[in-house]
This record gives sequence, structure tokens and C-alpha cells, in this order.
Amino acid sequence: MSYADIYASAKADPETFWMEAAGAIDWTIPPSKALSDENAPLYEWFADGELNACYNAVDRHVEAGHGDRLAIIHDSPMTGTVQKITFADLQSRVANLAGALLEKGVEAGDRVIIYMPMVPEALVAMLAASRIGAVHSVVFGGFAASELAVRIDDCTPKCIIAASCGLEPGRVVAYKPLLDAAIEMSSHKPGFTVVFQRPEAEAEMQPGRDFDWNAVQEAAEPAPCVPVKGNHPHYILYTSGTTGQPKGVVRHTGGHLVALNWTMRNIYDMNPGEVYWAASDVGWVVGHSYICYGPLTFGCTTLVFEGKPVGTPDAGTFWRVIEDHKVKCLFTAPTAFRAIKREDSKGALIGDYDLSSLESLFLAGERADPDTIEWAQDKLGVPVIDHWWQTETGYAIAANPLGIENLQVKIGSPSVAMPGYDVQILDEGGHPMAPGELGAIAIKLPLPPGTLPTLWNAEERFLSSYLTHFPGFYETGDAGMIDDDGYLYIMARTDDVINVAGHRLSTGAMEEVLASHPDVAECAVIGVSDALKGQMPMGFLCMNSDTEKADSDVIAECVKLVREKIGPVAAFKLATVVQRLPKTRSGKILRGTMVKIADGEDYKMPATIDDPVILDEITEALASMGYPA
Ligand code: COA
Ligand code: AMP
Repeated sequence: MSYADIYASAKADPETFWMEAAGAIDWTIPPSKALSDENAPLYEWFADGELNACYNAVDRHVEAGHGDRLAIIHDSPMTGTVQKITFADLQSRVANLAGALLEKGVEAGDRVIIYMPMVPEALVAMLAASRIGAVHSVVFGGFAASELAVRIDDCTPKCIIAASCGLEPGRVVAYKPLLDAAIEMSSHKPGFTVVFQRPEAEAEMQPGRDFDWNAVQEAAEPAPCVPVKGNHPHYILYTSGTTGQPKGVVRHTGGHLVALNWTMRNIYDMNPGEVYWAASDVGWVVGHSYICYGPLTFGCTTLVFEGKPVGTPDAGTFWRVIEDHKVKCLFTAPTAFRAIKREDSKGALIGDYDLSSLESLFLAGERADPDTIEWAQDKLGVPVIDHWWQTETGYAIAANPLGIENLQVKIGSPSVAMPGYDVQILDEGGHPMAPGELGAIAIKLPLPPGTLPTLWNAEERFLSSYLTHFPGFYETGDAGMIDDDGYLYIMARTDDVINVAGHRLSTGAMEEVLASHPDVAECAVIGVSDALKGQMPMGFLCMNSDTEKADSDVIAECVKLVREKIGPVAAFKLATVVQRLPKTRSGKILRGTMVKIADGEDYKMPATIDDPVILDEITEALASMGYPA
């Protein structure tokens, strides 16, 4: 069947389409129906079925006779090691850790925070929580202790599983002191922690609270899989919104596995037993879906890579990994390719490796610029596929579904809507716009299986953030257009979210941190274009009139403060002091206009501007920092 036929069949009869997809995973009790719409606009999928996520990702492959197949290949240029784990081995590791968690009182529905770098134990921890029906929440290692504390207070975990350290080029990031500080800061205290000790920085343990990863498993009985309802929360993943309080995106178990399993063949064109590599981090949604649950549920080998595209040791690392492990499909963010291209613009290192196993490259997480796509197409000679999705959806909203049909590529577009997604462009009043017109991108409800049913403990926020502006639709927060052929173009965010090296960050959250500095009276943070990272945050600070400190000192303190409060991942390094911020007469800061000036784009003088002269001051301040670049 063609893409068009499959899309049309899912639209005409979603119940049949998704029940058929549900048949490809294992249930202890099959669902009686796909969609529950009694509480619209809140929807659930496969609510009355029963299943276990870990069983689907691990045990069922062992039971089907594939215990010797590789489940995980861990390749770490940071430690110079490669580790291979079969499905049978993974099953016993996961069952043992799950047994230890059970013995220490973790039950189905309890939350478990996981704070780990790119080691296989991170996947073992996720799967162990899933095995006993606990709800995991993985926190990215590049966040600071206070970000971890906010998440501890929001999801109130019974247990935190951490590694003693992560490895970044040139430095060891000791996680345990960050974890200790976070627990100190949070009002909720987890009952216990489990710490995976790495030799690069062994953690100091607090007796009675902290348990060693190996020791805690010694006496425990391996735990069986606990079936949970299809609408049981599988995990919570926090993502940036418009304020410092992150949004806890909830993922239900049944729809999650059904949808991911469907995408592995239909979007990524994979077969069980083949090697799939998402070069991301388990702390992001890409890591949840395509380092852990997607490939494993479908029976693929997943590659867990602890390194960077450049500098570990060079811009040939990706090619070395593809050759060594016969990777068929690579998924990463465009920024990784921009980093490689910057170091090896001719792609000379590619010639040193045999990339014959590679059949496709998928890009997501930020806009894929045409230069990067064309460079990758030219150098790798495989389809380069931009696809668009969000933490909220958990998998692609729009893509070129290679496993169904390799559609015509239109560079600059992540192609077409995937089955189950009715994507529309709306004007401010919620009216559909004509092809080619720019507007808010919205998705007609219900969203398909696997997408967020709500936010953790924040149903009102879920409704107001996503479902209220355009009744009957999910508001994506992205703006763009659809052309006459149904191809989508993602142009910009409509909110405060920026994308730095494929990492989603909130400028609002950074402003909250800057405003807490005693010498800062007022501030604004915008995302300016960056040739490597796509965007970089830039801060504008207005000082208190009685400040005695030099501007440069306050700027340095602000940079340090954002790193301490949000984390190194915020990459907040650019800031300047200005006398005033440009505003509308009602007091709204004109961030959009500031972005246009910084990026050297034409802008219209906003009709509602309070004092146009301030824009000249901003232009001068930017020029003194070398912007437009
Ligand atoms: N733990 C602790 N610190 C971390 C971290 C982690 N897991 N991940 C990143 N950091 C730190 C980095 O060390 C860096 O610190 P620094 O300011 O001291 O140098 C800072 O956070 C910013 O990191 P990053 O944005 O990754 O920049 P970088 O300069 O280290 O690397 C790229 C740039 C492009 C090579 C890198 O971002 C990359 O490979 N990105 C693409 C893949 C990806 O992860 N995409 C995510 C979504 S698919
Ligand atoms: P995250 O939730 O971290 O996955 O970030 C989601 C956001 O990243 C989207 O809302 C977009 O703004 C942006 N994004 C993701 N993929 C793409 C893409 N292929 N093209 C353009 N923007 C993208």
C-alpha cells in the first residue's frame, strides 16, 4: 500500500488501524477497543488492555528464541570500551535490578527517577522500573541540581537510581554531589537511592540511604514482569515550557509501545535483528523512544553511544561506529552533522570507513538546514530524512515513511503527516488557512496512540497549555505552513522555547534565573541564530540604578548563575547590559523584534512600540557583541 492509502485508511477507520497495530505487540489481556473518548477532550488508547513494557522490550524476544541476539551495543570512546549485551543477558540484569527495587518496597505506580549518563545501566534501570510497573522519570545529566530538585518535588519518587559520574570531553561530571544537593534542596525525600559506581569518580555513599548497584542486587530474587493497564503511566519526561516549572509529559504504556513498534518498520524501515542507532541521550525523548523502547520492542539491536560527534577523538567517530557495528539506520540532530561538517568539510574521514551497512539518516530535534541535508546526502549517498516531532508526541508527527514508500524529498520540509495525525494550519482565530499561508500548527483531536494524554499532576496546565487556544485541536507551539502537496514546513516556535544543539530550553526559565540576581532590575533572553548549535541564548540585562558593580562582573555572575541553576546544557554564555528593553505600550517585551535584529533580518517597526529609539540602543548593543554574526 502507498503512504497515501495508509494515511487515508487510518483516518477513515482509526479503530481498525490501531487495533491491527496493537496486534504486533504482546498483551496479557488484549484491549477490547483502541480509543476511549468518554472524557473528551481527554483521550486514552487501549485503556482496558493489560501488558508489560519490559516484557515487550526484552522477555518476549528471549521466549521467541532470540536470547542470543544482541539487544544493546555500548560503544564509549570516552572510556575506550565496547560492551555487547544479548537479550537473555539483558533479561537477567533487568530482572535482578527489578527484584532489588521490589524488595526495597517499590511498587507498581511508584515513581523512580533515573539520573544517569549514556551507559547500558541507564536502559537497565528504565526497563527494571517498567518491569514492576513503576513509573520512571529520566533526568538529563546536563541539568543542575536545582532542576533535579524541581523534578523530585513534582513526581515524588520513592527511589532515585544514579550513576556516580558522567564523562564529558575533558572533564568528569560527578553526579553524586549533584544528586545529594538536589535531595537536600527538595521538600520530598526519596526513600533510597541506588548508585552505579564508575571508576572515573566513585561516589561517597550515605549509609542507610544510598545503596550500591551491585550490592543491592545480591540478595534479591529476580522479579517477573507485572502486567499493567494500557493506560498505566509508563514514564514521565519533563520538558521545557514557558516558565521555570518544567512540564511533566506523561506517556501511557499501551499506546506508547504500539506506536513505537509501528514506526520501526514503517518509518525507519527496520527489521528485527538489525542495528539501529539514535545518537542522542536517554535524558531526551529521542533517547526514550529510539535508544530504548522502539528498537528493543521491535527486536532490533540498539546502539548506546557515549561520546560526541567530534573530539572523541575526531570527526570520524560516527563513521567508525557505523562500520564497527554495522549500523543500518542513524538518527541524530542536525547540529551533530554541522559539527562534523565544520571539522571535516570535505568528508575526508568518511572514506576511511566502510559505511555499506548504512541505509538511511534521520534528523530531528531542530530545523534541518538545507546545507546540512545536502552535505549529508552527498557524502553518505543514502536518503537523509528530516522528521518533525516533540517530547509531547513521543514519535514523528511528520516524516518520510521510508518503510512504506520513499516519497519525494522537499528540502526544508519534514515531509508529510504520519497516520493518525490530522495536521492543520490555523490563524489566530482558529480558522484553517490556505496552502502556503503561515500560521499556528495544530493537530485535530484526538492525537494518535503514544502521544501525551496529560501532564503529571497538572491536568489544568495540560488543558490550558495545549487544548484551550484552539478548541478541538492540540496546539503544537510551532508555526509553519503546508504546501499544495501536503508537505509541512516548520518555521518557528510561537512560545519561549528555543532549541540549542537539539536541546529544548525555555528562555522564560533563564529569565527567571537572571531576574533573581540582586543587581538585575529587568531582563530578557532571546534565541539568536548560531551556525553550529542552531540557536544560542542571549541575555539582555537592565541593572538596578544603585548598582556599584561593573557590568562585566554582573554578566559573569549571571552566566555562572544560569549554569548553576539550570545546568551546562543551557549553554548560556552571551549577555549584555542595556539601559532599557524595547516594549509595547502595554509593557510586553518585543523579543521577536530583538531576534530579527540579532539575526540581521528585516523587521517592521511594531505599531504598538512604546519608544522606537530603544531598538537603536539594542542594535548598538548587539553590534558591540558582533551581531548580526
Ligand atoms: N552531562 C553533563 N554535562 C553535559 C551533558 C551531560 N550529559 N551533556 C552536555 N553537557 C555539557 C557540555 O559538556 C557543555 O559544557 P561546557 O559548557 O562546559 O562545554 C554544555 O553542556 C553544552 O553541551 P552541548 O550543547 O552538547 O555542546 P557541546 O559543545 O558539548 O557539543 C554538539 C555540541 C553539537 C557536538 C553536541 O551538542 C551534539 O552532539 N549534539 C547532537 C546530538 C544530540 O544530543 N541531540 C539531542 C536531541 S536528538
Ligand atoms: P523536543 O520536545 O525537545 O523534541 O523539541 C520539540 C521541538 O523541536 C519542536 O516543537 C520544534 O520546535 C523543534 N523540532 C523538532 N524537530 C524538528 C524538525 N524536524 N524541524 C524543525 N523543528 C523541529
